[in-house]
Amino acid sequence: MNIIPKPYKFEEKPGFFLIIPKTKIQLTPFNPKLQKTAQFLQSAFLNATGQKIPIIPGKAPNPTTITFSICETGLGKEGYKLNINARYIKLEAESETGIFYGIQSLLQLLPNEIHTQTDKDFRWEIPVCKIEDKPRFGWRGLHLDVSRHFFDVNFIKRYIDLMAMHKLNLFHWHLTDDNGWRIEIKKYPKLTEVGAWRAPRVGIDWRDSKPQQSGEKTTYGGYYTQIEIKEIVQYASDRNITILPEIEMPGHTLEVLAAYPELGCTGGPYFVATGNHKPNSNLFCAGKEEVFSFLENVLDEVLELFPSKYIHVGGDEADKGEWKKCPLCQQRIKAEGLADETELQSWFIKRIEKYLITKGRKLIGWDEILEGNLAPETTVMNWRGKDSGVIAAQTGHNVVMSPKTHCYFDHYQANPSTEKAAIGGYTSLKKVYFYEPIPTELSADEAKHVLGAQANVWTEWISTPEHAEYMLLPRLSALAEVLWSPQDSKDWPEFQTRIENFKKRLELLNLNYCPGTYQIEIDTKFDAENNLFSIKMESEIYNAKIHYTLDGNTPTQNSAVYTSPIVIKKTTTINAGIIIDGKLMGNPSRKIVNFHQCNG
Ligand code: ACM
Ligand code: ZN
Repeated sequence: MNIIPKPYKFEEKPGFFLIIPKTKIQLTPFNPKLQKTAQFLQSAFLNATGQKIPIIPGKAPNPTTITFSICETGLGKEGYKLNINARYIKLEAESETGIFYGIQSLLQLLPNEIHTQTDKDFRWEIPVCKIEDKPRFGWRGLHLDVSRHFFDVNFIKRYIDLMAMHKLNLFHWHLTDDNGWRIEIKKYPKLTEVGAWRAPRVGIDWRDSKPQQSGEKTTYGGYYTQIEIKEIVQYASDRNITILPEIEMPGHTLEVLAAYPELGCTGGPYFVATGNHKPNSNLFCAGKEEVFSFLENVLDEVLELFPSKYIHVGGDEADKGEWKKCPLCQQRIKAEGLADETELQSWFIKRIEKYLITKGRKLIGWDEILEGNLAPETTVMNWRGKDSGVIAAQTGHNVVMSPKTHCYFDHYQANPSTEKAAIGGYTSLKKVYFYEPIPTELSADEAKHVLGAQANVWTEWISTPEHAEYMLLPRLSALAEVLWSPQDSKDWPEFQTRIENFKKRLELLNLNYCPGTYQIEIDTKFDAENNLFSIKMESEIYNAKIHYTLDGNTPTQNSAVYTSPIVIKKTTTINAGIIIDGKLMGNPSRKIVNFHQCNG
């Protein structure tokens, strides 16, 4: 069983169904919506075989047909039933969304040739099995920051394809930030004429990049036209993915102020940030009415482009330094009877929220929006750590989990010695796999506020599609499993075998991925009765050969190979590592086992 994310129920039997050039897809009912969904399977076959298999009406299953049928399944709108036996394939769901997910599973059951060019006389075996499937969470998200580095339309589509393959349904598009405004707004052309471009600092450490110098040209950046955005929204929607646009406020707005300096407290001048921009004190001035008419006008165009029920307004990391000094902001605090600048931010967010509600939408923001009292219907995106997610749910807010400890895919996923420079942190594949979005602190009722989770890909340190893919894969597969598969179905070694197979597909799809961390987990257990330590070693790399030494030396290919737990009876330094082509991968993992008086 090679499906990722792992289905809710899966039962394999001996035998197989044969897909051959004569195979057809038949639909009940035969309508345009289901036809459009069926085309995802048709086009996968077409890409691989050069042959367009017919899509026809019908329901009587037979050995040359794959039947898709919309009917009652009891598995919800996103669920599906897939029945594959030697005589037929039947895929049933309550909606086209369920059929779409069933197709994703079917594609993963097919041989890897589905991703390559194959013979015209293909005969593909697909194992006999029965699947009943449905997701654990409704919010299965992935974010991309296109401000720190711009990613083009082709890459965004590829990103959406990857999400679809993993049965994710929400793309959080971080379209604005200090380093570039990425969405065409007709009413404010300078947002893209000025705000989308910065002075180039290619190849320079993000933290060291010098601000724009006087007379320097801003040539680095880009943006999406409204036509491109409409095309991407449709592309995503065809794949059952909603796009959540993010328009940052009141902070992370330097690029807006560079274009329209009158919207800041000081009036500028401001320049689009070339790299790191902290503290983030160049906020929209909360005392100026024109700021709100500007934001409402921008949001009007955003709402026109994005049908999403939620609109993300940022709200994170807004340093209140300028607000403290600004007479207009201070006047606003007085006039509204607010305690301080924190309450001013909450007043700002609530004012925008009221506007969104009049337009039939809902506001979501980073967890800083919890500071100051919020409208109960506000949804919170948790990022700073689990605690703010717990507080959000306990105070009755819906919450989406994306704590940086587990869901920030700009963090290292392997020992930094084998990796390209990243922002920091360490979130391995295994750590993501064992992430649990529902904190144990929550009661069953409170837990209902957790809509799901998402991974965030911030791109300060990621400037190319290849690198973005590398940071994403295969961690995205682990997160998809967290969000889709039953909580009690976790089995790390079994997941590792599926990931190994999945990597072959990723290669055929020309997708870049991280081979895993070469770090060795060295686990020590003291046996008091026998006064010894039992040492277990494990690697995230599938079937890795671990070499180790007990004399303090760096392991080489001639060092002992770990096969089963080893016994240690005196103070010892263990060094372990993986050797590929004679070369130790990264730094050796080291552990000192100390025998004290008290051990004896
Ligand atoms: C964030 O990482 N500032 C939401
Ligand atoms: Zn101000």
